[in-house]
Amino acid sequence: MAKVVFNHWLHRSQFTCRVCHVDIGFFMKQGETRLTAADNMRGYYCGACHNGTKQNFAPPVFKACSTPPNPEEMSRCDRCHSFGKDVKKKYEFAEFTEKMPKAALGNGVDWEKAETAGLITLQDNLQGLPIIKKMPIQKDFSLDSKGSWMGDILFSHKKHAKWNGCELCHPDIFLGVSRGATKYNMFQIYEGEYCGVCHLNVAFPLKDCAKCHVNPVD
Ligand code: HEC
Ligand code: HEC
Ligand code: HEC
Ligand code: HEC
Ligand code: HEC
Ligand code: HEC
Repeated sequence: MAKVVFNHWLHRSQFTCRVCHVDIGFFMKQGETRLTAADNMRGYYCGACHNGTKQNFAPPVFKACSTPPNPEEMSRCDRCHSFGKDVKKKYEFAEFTEKMPKAALGNGVDWEKAETAGLITLQDNLQGLPIIKKMPIQKDFSLDSKGSWMGDILFSHKKHAKWNGCELCHPDIFLGVSRGATKYNMFQIYEGEYCGVCHLNVAFPLKDCAKCHVNPVD
């Protein structure tokens, strides 16, 4: 089988991060989730949605692996096992994002604005998975940047909770017991820790300094 190609941009335009990285349990590091065809067939990982039956979607999402496959199923396999193949996609990035607000860096889309403007609607729960009780959202706050030449950092709990829930960050990335309890700096962020877990390669990139280092909020 050809290697699987997963287009993160399409999936993040349909679901919150926490559906996949908390409820379904994908690691937030490429290649770390050691999933198999058997897992998918049992309804885990990709198979939690790609099961060919009605999820929250209409029409139902095409099924993941079947082993051994029937010959007539082979074109479906190619939709995921597409590395190095010329497979026709249902969604092309350029076309899909044409009308979305633009960002200079990253993949060129301002996802925050796209979501606020209602251009994308994120599902936060899947049928058949337990619904997590929502916790009250914490106040937004600013973190002061110890390098005095950079502006303080705005951090919006409200916006982050919309995408990430609480469990994606607490307690694994930030202990979150009280502000300041976790000490970290820009170097660690560049190494892919703390804010860098997401802002290195999925959320807007670290090069966009001014998006974080802005004036403080109340
Ligand atoms: C439909 C499921 C799905 C959604 C929704 C999703 N992800 Fe992912 N994400 C994945 C999968 C699958 C991988 C690859 C995991 C692997 O290879 O083990 C991944 C990988 C990542 C990685 C690692 C990337 C790398 O290059 O190492 C980060 C960071 C990440 N996701 C963050 C996010 C953030 C932030 C969001 C929300 C904006 C999000 N994800 C939404 C499924 C999803
Ligand atoms: C949370 C639900 C969910 C999970 C988990 C998920 N997907 Fe999807 N995926 C979707 C939906 C919804 C679509 C859009 C289906 C459609 O419109 O026909 C989709 C579409 C796709 C497409 C089609 C893209 C195109 O343009 O033709 C591919 C390929 C794909 N997913 C691969 C994967 C792989 C690989 C995994 C596991 C690593 C995965 N997906 C996990 C929900 C999910
Ligand atoms: C929704 C996406 C998706 C579709 C569709 C899909 N697969 Fe997979 N398949 C995966 C992922 C993800 C893996 C695990 C990662 C890997 O091995 O590259 C995988 C792994 C496999 C493996 C490797 C062996 C194993 O046990 O892990 C085989 C064989 C396989 N799939 C067969 C098929 C066949 C046959 C079809 C078509 C009938 C198919 N798959 C359709 C996503 C998909
Ligand atoms: C994107 C990551 C992220 C998400 C999502 C998130 N938090 Fe936080 N949270 C933080 C950071 C960063 C801090 C500050 C921690 C530090 O600096 O030690 C924090 C601090 C806190 C604190 C301590 C506040 C204080 O003023 O001392 C509480 C309580 C908290 N979070 C609860 C929540 C709850 C409840 C949710 C979900 C509604 C949530 N968090 C979602 C990152 C996040
Ligand atoms: C995703 C948000 C984010 C982005 C983007 C970002 N920073 Fe930071 N930065 C932080 C946080 C959080 C801290 C640590 C705050 C603290 O000290 O508690 C920090 C701290 C710093 C510090 C203080 C010294 C240190 O190492 O902690 C400097 C200097 C700095 N950043 C420079 C930059 C520059 C230059 C860029 C762009 C190339 C940038 N930052 C982009 C979030 C960000
Ligand atoms: C679990 C993943 C994750 C972590 C950790 C994370 N972010 Fe984000 N952040 C996102 C996503 C997703 C967005 C939505 C926009 C996008 O994808 O570009 C976002 C948006 C933002 C925005 C723009 C929205 C706004 O508030 O106006 C800022 C600023 C920001 N993050 C700063 C931070 C800082 C500072 C930290 C660390 C203290 C941090 N983020 C940690 C995922 C994360």
